[in-house]
Amino acid sequence: MKILVTGGVGYIGSHTVVDLIENGHDIVILDNLCNSKIEVLDKIKEITGKAPAFMVGDIRNRSDVDNVFNTHHDIDAVIHFAGLKAVGESCEKPLLYYDNNIAGTVTLLKSMSAHGCKRIVFSSSATVYGDPATVPVTEDFPLSTTNPYGSTKLYIEQILKDLCASDSEWDATLLRYFNPVGAHESTLLGENPNGIPNNLMPYIMKVACGKLEKLHIFGDDYPTADGTGVRDYIHVCDLAHGHTLAISKLDGLKIYNLGTGTGYSVLDMVKAFEKANNIKLPYCIDPRRPGDVAVNFADPAKAKEELGFEATRTLEDMCRTSYEFAKKNFK
Ligand code: NAD
Ligand code: WQD
Repeated sequence: MKILVTGGVGYIGSHTVVDLIENGHDIVILDNLCNSKIEVLDKIKEITGKAPAFMVGDIRNRSDVDNVFNTHHDIDAVIHFAGLKAVGESCEKPLLYYDNNIAGTVTLLKSMSAHGCKRIVFSSSATVYGDPATVPVTEDFPLSTTNPYGSTKLYIEQILKDLCASDSEWDATLLRYFNPVGAHESTLLGENPNGIPNNLMPYIMKVACGKLEKLHIFGDDYPTADGTGVRDYIHVCDLAHGHTLAISKLDGLKIYNLGTGTGYSVLDMVKAFEKANNIKLPYCIDPRRPGDVAVNFADPAKAKEELGFEATRTLEDMCRTSYEFAKKNFK
């Protein structure tokens, strides 16, 4: 298939482009590079031997999106990663998030429709489950959000549901990612956030490389085995492959969790990282982070049954590849 990947230069997008190329697909990337670097395209070529077509542009700008479809007439489907994702920033700048994520998606969908391309895989998030009453979480759990970023994911899901209900030609698969971590085995691709990271694994990586002094663990008084928050960490290469499976099975409206089904606490992650990399991670216990939930992990059964999706990489793989990438790439 010929696939337009919005946000394909970013963390999850770049790993997915590699997996798609390795599975024989032709790729066109549209990215405005607001949170990624153009060098990633060379790394994709180094890994796969093939350079994806790339157009710099913004999904909010109709002419940028039209330009992609007018240049590449035969696009079969879109995988839509482009979006802003920092929860804290979304609370400070909600309009930026509603504009970039929601208005951007509406513009993308209008252009797709005008060009007769009505097949999309969308990057949703486990954040749409809010604070789940029980775990593991199945796709039919009640949806809610605790911040504007999460609201953008929820609204975009609703837009895609409405679109599929209005026109049977549309196929939309909503993938709800749990906590993607890790890096490509080559160490050429990975997550390299600017400044102080918001998420656990990039923060651990910066501490491990001596760029930050110690990890601040946000709360040890949750109702979990060791008191720290529990999440479903999934290797980004497993997550990437989930998109390759999903794009081949587009059929009406589908919703899948992409996780491993196993929850690890913050302290489990610290210990696993130390063991995998034979290093010591200094940490301290801080108060809870506002808005955090105690436990969230997936029931991945539906994705396994319908997509054949199964995460195969271990927690050791996640910790090892993260550190190898950080050592090579964190300046
Ligand atoms: P990322 O920031 O690394 O990648 C997003 C890419 O989209 C970047 O390359 C950025 O430059 C581009 N982009 C942003 N706004 C754009 C716009 N208006 N026009 C064109 N390009 C634009 O983030 P990621 O971690 O790879 O996440 C990809 C998607 O997955 C996002 O939609 C995110 O919300 C979603 N998601 C991420 C996580 C996570 O923990 N990383 C979890 C669940 C869902
Ligand atoms: C994991 C655990 C923290 C940092 C967020 C978004 C969600 C999704 C993934 C996109 C929690 C603890 C963290 C630190 C810590 N993104 N922690 N010290 O909160 O599950 O989800 O990213 O969709 O929308 O909300 O991930 O990595 O931030 O936190 O103790 O410096 O690590 O309290 O228990 P989270 P996270």
